[in-house]
Amino acid sequence: MERFYTTTAIDYVNGAPHIGHAYEKILTDVIYRHFSQRCEDTYFLTGTDEHGIKIQKTSAAQGMSPKELCDMNAQKFIDGWKALDINYSQFIRTTDAQHEAIVQKIFDKLLKQGDIYKHSYTGLYCQGCEAFLSEKDLTEDGLCPDHLKKPEEVSEENYFFKLTKYKDAIIKHIKTNPDFIVPSFRANEVINQLENIEDISVSRAKSNVSWGIPVLGDDEQVIYVWIDALSNYITALGYNPDGESEEKFNKYWPANVQVIGKDILKFHSIYWPAFLMALDLPLPKQILAHGWITIDQTKMSKSLGNVISPTGVLESFNQEIPDALRYYMASAAPCGKDGNYSDEDFKEKVNAHLANSMGNLLNRTLSMLVKYFDGDVKAEFKIKSDLFDKAIETVKAVKHHFDYYEVQEAAQKINELVDITNKYVTDNAPWTLAKEEKMTECGQVLTTVLEIMCVVSSLIYPYCPNIAKAMAEQLSYDLNTKLDNVTCDNISVGHLIDKENIKPVFLRMDSELADKSKKS
Ligand code: ME8
Ligand code: MG
Repeated sequence: MERFYTTTAIDYVNGAPHIGHAYEKILTDVIYRHFSQRCEDTYFLTGTDEHGIKIQKTSAAQGMSPKELCDMNAQKFIDGWKALDINYSQFIRTTDAQHEAIVQKIFDKLLKQGDIYKHSYTGLYCQGCEAFLSEKDLTEDGLCPDHLKKPEEVSEENYFFKLTKYKDAIIKHIKTNPDFIVPSFRANEVINQLENIEDISVSRAKSNVSWGIPVLGDDEQVIYVWIDALSNYITALGYNPDGESEEKFNKYWPANVQVIGKDILKFHSIYWPAFLMALDLPLPKQILAHGWITIDQTKMSKSLGNVISPTGVLESFNQEIPDALRYYMASAAPCGKDGNYSDEDFKEKVNAHLANSMGNLLNRTLSMLVKYFDGDVKAEFKIKSDLFDKAIETVKAVKHHFDYYEVQEAAQKINELVDITNKYVTDNAPWTLAKEEKMTECGQVLTTVLEIMCVVSSLIYPYCPNIAKAMAEQLSYDLNTKLDNVTCDNISVGHLIDKENIKPVFLRMDSELADKSKKS
């Protein structure tokens, strides 16, 4: 694989980012950083979704213009992702002038080629989904199953997109590309939805929704927020529907993997492929639909008052670096399944894995090297060990899991390697060897562990970039080593480290849990 392009969903800016938004961005960032260790050329797009009736109403309720609300809240997402070290290449806002202009051109092209037509329509609109729902989508009480709100009846003349024209081609694509939708158990769901698909409304009357991109040449209509939003993945790259696209587009499209939540899979595996087919563009290689994050096993909601802010969590646990939260969230759920956040579980897991097992192992090994050998590695310390085979096997296993976006499962493999290495230290008791003056053996055990820790720093890097850097620095290890080139021959003969340069890479979170109210 020479290049890797990944995207996240773009978040609605009617509020501040919460831990569910953060989960997706962390997951994608971990995937992105892993593939950056395997490819030369990578690109990562995220951003915010700023048009539509929901934003319009929220801004009105807060006594602001929609643009003021968007500016204020988009900044919270930008700041939030900075605090979490989300290493995106580009942050797109759907109110960016370039995006708006390209969306207008895309709509115009589809209209001119007959994929979009005008039609009068009465339907049930859910503002939470920003979508028309059909009767059979609703609960017994006539509510949207996701937002538990009654959709509004809307009667308008709208533009419609000929989704039905692409139905068979999309079904065929999903069936002939069984790894298009990840996890694959969701593909059947999509096929079932496709069986009953109808043409969709792709504009709203300006009299009802004013906060949107106007249809070119029709002052009465604005472009449906999902056409606007989905297009971000290509407008950001400089796609041009009626001329030369930018170099970036030619280089990165189609995306390798587009990461989204399971609630918006329909938009990404039905509408998005149909729009792309209509534009005669290739489909993304994979759509990864992640699960839902609950708080203490309860759905997050404003009315329950249990909405958790990711920066609030960092503050309440006095975390200067986001590594612990990144590690915890990225390993919160098996690929595509739901996960849960709880303060207790967070503290327990990162104390156990990052402080006790991993951090401590490095710290005490380096300390012994200083104590017994003044921090020097001697030529006779460099031996071959079975542990090295285990480490290289782990690199392979981690890569394999990432090929399937099994980010939690990959983390488990890294933990296993750390556990085995801890056991190796216990079994070989370098302190006893030193007491018995078996200095060569003692140095061999310590050096073997340090070799493994170089590999561990490479593997943990996507989850915990700051911790990995701190580890690599103390090991004089080059963290830019591509995963394919990782070996167990990293520690050079000679002086490695002085006592004052040995620092714990992660401190246990033992402080009493801070006041929960700080979080939201
Ligand atoms: O859907 N757990 O925006 P959004 C996990 N603008 N993921 C969650 C979550 C939770 N509790 N809550 C939300 C939109 N998400 C559109 C997307 S893309 C062209 C347009 C995820 O702010 C959700 O699944 O409602 C989605 O992928 C993302 O956060 C943004 O949700
Ligand atoms: Mg949503």
